[in-house]
Amino acid sequence: MAVVLITGSSSGIGKYTALEMARRGHRVFASMRNLESARLLRADTQKAQLAIEILQLDVTDPASVVGAVQRVLQRAGAIDVLVNNAGRGSIGVVEDYTDEEIHSVLETNFFGAVRTTRAVLPAMRARRSGTIIMMSSVSGLRTFPFASVYSASKFALEAISNGLRCELRPFGIRVVLIEPGNFRTRGGINMHFPKRIMPGSGEATSDPLYATLARRPLNPLPTFPLGDAHEIARLAAEVAESDDPRARYLIGEDAQHLMELDSEEFEELVRQRMKA
Ligand SMILES: NC(=O)c1ccc[n+]([C@@H]2O[C@H](COP(=O)([O-])OP(=O)(O)OC[C@H]3O[C@@H](n4cnc5c(N)ncnc54)[C@H](OP(=O)(O)O)[C@@H]3O)[C@@H](O)[C@H]2O)c1
Repeated sequence: MAVVLITGSSSGIGKYTALEMARRGHRVFASMRNLESARLLRADTQKAQLAIEILQLDVTDPASVVGAVQRVLQRAGAIDVLVNNAGRGSIGVVEDYTDEEIHSVLETNFFGAVRTTRAVLPAMRARRSGTIIMMSSVSGLRTFPFASVYSASKFALEAISNGLRCELRPFGIRVVLIEPGNFRTRGGINMHFPKRIMPGSGEATSDPLYATLARRPLNPLPTFPLGDAHEIARLAAEVAESDDPRARYLIGEDAQHLMELDSEEFEELVRQRMKA
């Protein structure tokens, strides 16, 4: 039985991962930035007669991160697995973002994961064991136009995870990247857009051509159906239970297909689609 801390457990992949880990007998601390969003997880937990401990953790708030990690350590004595899942999608052309908007996407998707990782490391290092799962994305390996800021946050997450993996291996701590394609969650509803392109914001996109281009399909590949996010939860649990997990797991038919193209082939495809 492992002690598992998950960020962003109010919906989607984080919620499914909390339930899957609990079903397998692990002690789960499901964290979320707003405890009022715990209703869905509480209902699912009760229905499945599982025990999950819910706690507040906003990855953008250092005091909240440290406080949550301390509470888990006080209650359980250790953290075996951290799932850095909290994140938000963002769509818009780079020029339409303010600096603050770019910062806020990176603050959640990159700094949030780094901050939470750094908070659990002293306890993991002392025990010479632990697994850190980073919920990255195929967007951390290939950049889709109009999702460049989101991609930048996931590329940064990939880079630091690759470095951390080597730094932490001597301490028995594993760092594993999960790189999903498109899966059905609340990610679409929770999507962030630069204020400039929000209807009613009173501002306009910097150039009308952007608006025309942005209506073109974002994904340059033939359409694959959205994946079932429970699959990612099962994968995260398998990684948590593995003695020798791989460095990265690409998941989703679309992601697999995409990564069969090299980066030049991918860009060529994007160029063709943008001309369409
Ligand atoms: N779904 C996909 O196709 C897909 C593909 C690739 C990667 N991913 C990654 O998978 C992760 C989960 O996304 P999802 O698809 O499951 O979307 P989701 O249903 O929107 O879940 C995102 C979760 O992150 C939480 N969150 C946002 N900001 C937070 C913060 N500051 N502190 C703590 N929690 C915060 C959200 O909480 P609130 O309810 O409070 O907003 C929510 O629980 C993300 O990192 C995403 O980038 C998803």
